[in-house]
Amino acid sequence: MKPVKVGLLGLGTVGTGVVRIVEGHQEDLSSQVGSPIIIEKIAVKNSDKTRSINVDKSKLTEDPWDVIRDPEIDVIVEVMGGIEHTKAYILEALERGKHIVTANKDLMALHGSEILAKAQEKQCDVFYEASVAGGIPIIRTLIEGFSSDRILKIMGIVNGTTNFILTKMSQEGASYEAVLEEAQKLGYAEADPTSDVEGLDAARKMAILGTLGFRTNVELKDVSVRGISQVSKEDITYAKRLGYEMKLLGIADREDDHVSISVQPTMVRKGHPIASVNGVFNAVYVYGEAVGETMFYGAGAGEMPTATSVVADLIAVIKNLKLGVNGLKAIVPYKQKKLKSDDQ
Ligand code: NDP
Ligand code: HSE
Repeated sequence: MKPVKVGLLGLGTVGTGVVRIVEGHQEDLSSQVGSPIIIEKIAVKNSDKTRSINVDKSKLTEDPWDVIRDPEIDVIVEVMGGIEHTKAYILEALERGKHIVTANKDLMALHGSEILAKAQEKQCDVFYEASVAGGIPIIRTLIEGFSSDRILKIMGIVNGTTNFILTKMSQEGASYEAVLEEAQKLGYAEADPTSDVEGLDAARKMAILGTLGFRTNVELKDVSVRGISQVSKEDITYAKRLGYEMKLLGIADREDDHVSISVQPTMVRKGHPIASVNGVFNAVYVYGEAVGETMFYGAGAGEMPTATSVVADLIAVIKNLKLGVNGLKAIVPYKQKKLKSDDQ
């Protein structure tokens, strides 16, 4: 059996989890796809850095182009983050007929249409399950599970860092700064945590969910955003006294041809399922015209939950590769009718 060769861009929190799962579950994974899966090359910023896993140093490169240009590599797993330079790597990889798995919501929220269009032109897969809500398979669910329905509302906690901060402030009276530092140490926060605490990370995820759920092209500028940096301990205590929990909530509504999407700190009544989503956990509520209410819950960030989604995408890509078909990207939201947003 010819092995499938994977090029990994990034060996940080998520990349480390990907290596652990691919190596630790190798027997099961290879039996699912009918070939061994080899991580052939890994791009990192600093190849001399001490890491929490043992990797064969000869696989490391500080130049991502070494990975992209390697003709032996079939699939690129992008878990290094970044926008413009990362887009260039991915477009070139697609040009070369390589399939892509990415956890990069910044990239997909801003350039998803262009990347998916290139993937379609080249008959390659681009899967990005880990880009929203870490270990919860919400992208697959919206694309496949609800393809029969008309989604009217998507609401949820889609940022683990801020939920971790709000939970610790509420339950332990901890300080905002101390908990943010803890979230960074645990690998939950973005390289620049401003995007977590100011709501931009959640807004990017809501743009992706809105695009897929409403089958339109939601752009980041369509999402109104307010983060948690201005939420004080007093706000949280006051909300609790009134019977509410403070949550950073993304809300996307569709009414006929109009969409409205926002991210903001919201007082959620205790007893509502969203109010009891604590710590790094995320939850996404989806209301469909036919299905009614549904809700999805799980770890929204962190090494192993996120890597679970990345490797599931990798398996899906390899299965497609073997069958000579392309998968979930069969939905092409960039070709769909643009709905009006609040700003229009
Ligand atoms: P980290 O900062 O932990 O890791 C980034 C990795 O990429 C590091 O190994 C770094 O190298 C490498 N890297 C960064 N820039 C370059 C470059 N220019 N050239 C070569 N290598 C580079 O990030 P995370 O693992 O936390 O996140 C990765 C991606 O996954 C991001 O897009 C993030 O938004 C997304 N994501 C993260 C989640 C999480 O819980 N952390 C959850 C869901 C998605 P070095 O190790 O040498 O510094
Ligand atoms: N920084 C992000 C979060 C990582 O805290 O949710 C997962 O996308």
